[in-house]
Amino acid sequence: MSRPYAQFSGTGRSIPSKILTNHDFSKMGLETSHEWIIERTGIAERHIAQDGETTCGMAAGAAREAMQRARVQPDEVDVIILSTATPDRLLPATAVDVQAELGASRASAFDLSAACSGWLYGLNVGEGLILNGTAETVLVIGAEKMSAIVDWTDRSTCVVFGDGAGAAILQKSRNNRGILSSYMRSDGTLADLLFRPAGGASLPMSEAVLADRSHLVRMAGREVFKAAVRSMSEAADRALEAANLTGHDIDMMIPHQANVRIIEATAKHADIPMDKVYVNVDRFGNTSSASIPIALDEAMERGQIGEGATVLMVTFGAGFTWASMVVRF
Ligand code: UT7
Repeated sequence: MSRPYAQFSGTGRSIPSKILTNHDFSKMGLETSHEWIIERTGIAERHIAQDGETTCGMAAGAAREAMQRARVQPDEVDVIILSTATPDRLLPATAVDVQAELGASRASAFDLSAACSGWLYGLNVGEGLILNGTAETVLVIGAEKMSAIVDWTDRSTCVVFGDGAGAAILQKSRNNRGILSSYMRSDGTLADLLFRPAGGASLPMSEAVLADRSHLVRMAGREVFKAAVRSMSEAADRALEAANLTGHDIDMMIPHQANVRIIEATAKHADIPMDKVYVNVDRFGNTSSASIPIALDEAMERGQIGEGATVLMVTFGAGFTWASMVVRF
């Protein structure tokens, strides 16, 4: 009998309806242009949550869709892992609000903080809980309201991020499908290249913090870009090696959607042609840890990931953190 795997039984997504185009930034008085943003990032538009649209609400919407596709009832969920850099409140975890909204009364629920890499980190944790017998059904969500933490006066960050949520149900399988290999790394010596300097316990909110906007995201874009290409390329190699595969065996690569130039460089390194790479950064921008589950759900819905397809997911984010995973669907 083959070894057990943690497999994907259903995916879902929830996207706010309001769209902000590149042209809208110019109308808002920001010194930028559609041409600059498209050329440097590949982003044409992003979805932005409106008043009343919360990280919890988007997470629950994506979760409901994933549960429905997996034919899982709320009381069958054992664990809810919510990856987010934008929790609705700092205490308690937003995952417990999601639990309450879903009515997942038997579940334990917690937030996971690994920035854009968080959803793959969460899948790793979920796989571990399934394989060690702690859980049978794990809901892994990536949900982000980046619009709440970006500095709308900083053209080098506010144009790249967007809001949304994606989710998947993980369950045990013995049919050789599921997570074949995974890889996770962090380098905290580079934390200050992409961070929110204040607003946490070390430098709580104050008038001075508000005045210098240091509670909002700051990013050294060019350094982050270089590290992203390097780290995502390395992560792709490691997960492929661990699964005893090469880029040629991959039916679809689903990379973190931060910048189309990072995606192209990673795909080239892994020897995966762009027609096998899922790209939606043009429509959503960088939705941090929601980006891979949103892209995966779109690809599933469009029938681009058939039964038995081998998929490489690879990501990079603040921390720095980076991760990759090979999955057979
Ligand atoms: O989610 C994981 C983490 N995030 C990422 O992976 C993002 C990685 N970084 C990037 O995608 C890119 O670095 C950015 C899109 C953020 C920036 O693109 P870049 O090509 O690295 O530009 P840059 O920061 O080196 O800036 C080049 C110029 C600067 O002007 P000067 O100093 O050359 O006069 C910027 O001020 O472009 C200017 N600039 C802009 N111009 C028009 C920066 N942002 C904008 C803008 N519109 N929105």
